[in-house]
Amino acid sequence: MSSISIWKDKAEESFFSPLRHDITVDVAIVGGGITGITAAYILSRAGKKVAVLEARKIGEGATGSSTGNLYCTIGSPGLHNVKSKFNHEKIKEVVESRAAAVNFIEERVKEFDIDCDFKRVPWSLFTEDEAGKSFVEKEKKAAQEAGLAITENFSYPWKVNEGFTVENQAQFNPLQYVVSLAKSIKSANCSIYDLTKVTDVEEGDVCTVTTAGGKVTASQVIMATHSPKGIYAVHMNMGPYREYAVGVTLNGTYPPAGTWWNMVKPTEHYSMRTYDTSKGRILMVLGEMHKVGQKENNHECYETLKKYLRERFDVASVEFTWSAQQFKPADGIPYIGLSTGNSKTYIATGFSADGLTYGTLASMIISDEVLGKENKWSDTYKASRITPIASAKEFIKENVNVAVEFIKDRFTKTEADEFADVTIGQGKVMEIDGKKHGVYRDETGKLHVVSAVCTHMGCINHWNEVEQSWDCPCHGSRFSIDGEVLEGPAYTALNKVIV
Ligand code: FES
Repeated sequence: MSSISIWKDKAEESFFSPLRHDITVDVAIVGGGITGITAAYILSRAGKKVAVLEARKIGEGATGSSTGNLYCTIGSPGLHNVKSKFNHEKIKEVVESRAAAVNFIEERVKEFDIDCDFKRVPWSLFTEDEAGKSFVEKEKKAAQEAGLAITENFSYPWKVNEGFTVENQAQFNPLQYVVSLAKSIKSANCSIYDLTKVTDVEEGDVCTVTTAGGKVTASQVIMATHSPKGIYAVHMNMGPYREYAVGVTLNGTYPPAGTWWNMVKPTEHYSMRTYDTSKGRILMVLGEMHKVGQKENNHECYETLKKYLRERFDVASVEFTWSAQQFKPADGIPYIGLSTGNSKTYIATGFSADGLTYGTLASMIISDEVLGKENKWSDTYKASRITPIASAKEFIKENVNVAVEFIKDRFTKTEADEFADVTIGQGKVMEIDGKKHGVYRDETGKLHVVSAVCTHMGCINHWNEVEQSWDCPCHGSRFSIDGEVLEGPAYTALNKVIV
């Protein structure tokens, strides 16, 4: 069983050299996922000199962990909830703008002849029982109000209590798409760097972006990093969540082509689809969401998904497991554009689980803004907006949660008193010289000790047993066993302690 995402099975490798000297460009793009590479495409085509700085390899962050589904509706909190926070016009704008982003991807696939298994498929939302019925009914009505043509013809051959379908949505291999697009656009105007971790961005008359290999001087910066690196007001307006994916082969019948969302709880769905790999046809299911760093036994999440599949299908083998992160915005709408009115830094975040479509849309909006062109959706997603009424409930919920985690972890007893309490494969928080540390013992018995204090804003990290990482429960930063940043908003590694 592989613990990497299914897309790597078929995607070609990317090989972009790290940055090794100082450069000057018009726009520095931090992050080489779908948002960053799409923005690089649009801006370099328009004559701007751009540099993409990717900490890992192109597409291997959030883009490579996604489901590869493209749709003009949205997942959580659902169109009906966005309508209740704003109005009927807002959901029309969301659906229209997201449809434009899906079309944009299809056009790039054709333009560059990208072999990423792009195909148009139906998207369906349904529930098997009463649990998610109310959500489905409200969502059906909202989808119609947003101008979507829905059908109730279900080709899903298993139990459906209530549901509806929107035709002509899409699926692809997101990693292959982004890697191919990056290779196609690399030019004198568009430089792309793998393994180039940004450690600071400073704004002055110009912006200075610092990496280990060199500085990038730019007029503007685009933070295409899922959650913007550093400290931004939007971090207080978003909740970081982790979820899990399992891919299996079946002995029996597979669901037909399409994106299948089953409301398994009143406000939560599992997402299912198939994909053909070197291991045969795979049925994948993604779900079991929880706040980052706030699930003690996250092995359970995989087990619950496997049980779900086994109860409905004749599962032959489990071939893939991986996990993914998402950031939920307080008012249900992503934050796209300048971080504040007088900043030179653009942000694109709060995509929930709808990031492939929103990432593409974000790059379309931000590129227009950089180029001084009007974009009709700029105001809808404006990053510096204040929506006190629409955001109030989620804002309070997420920030009370952050405050509770911050205080609780400082005053509760640590998980280990001495190194001997940490057995092989375990990670525990332990006090050393009066300070909280994360202690992990690897398979050889060696200890890996790092400060447990998150370098973003000081919360105490928690051990993630499945992924063997230190995860921050406040704004979702994640760190390796030796303290390296795996996921922002933190810039800086955890202090490593030699024992
Ligand atoms: Fe903000 Fe850790 S991510 S304090």
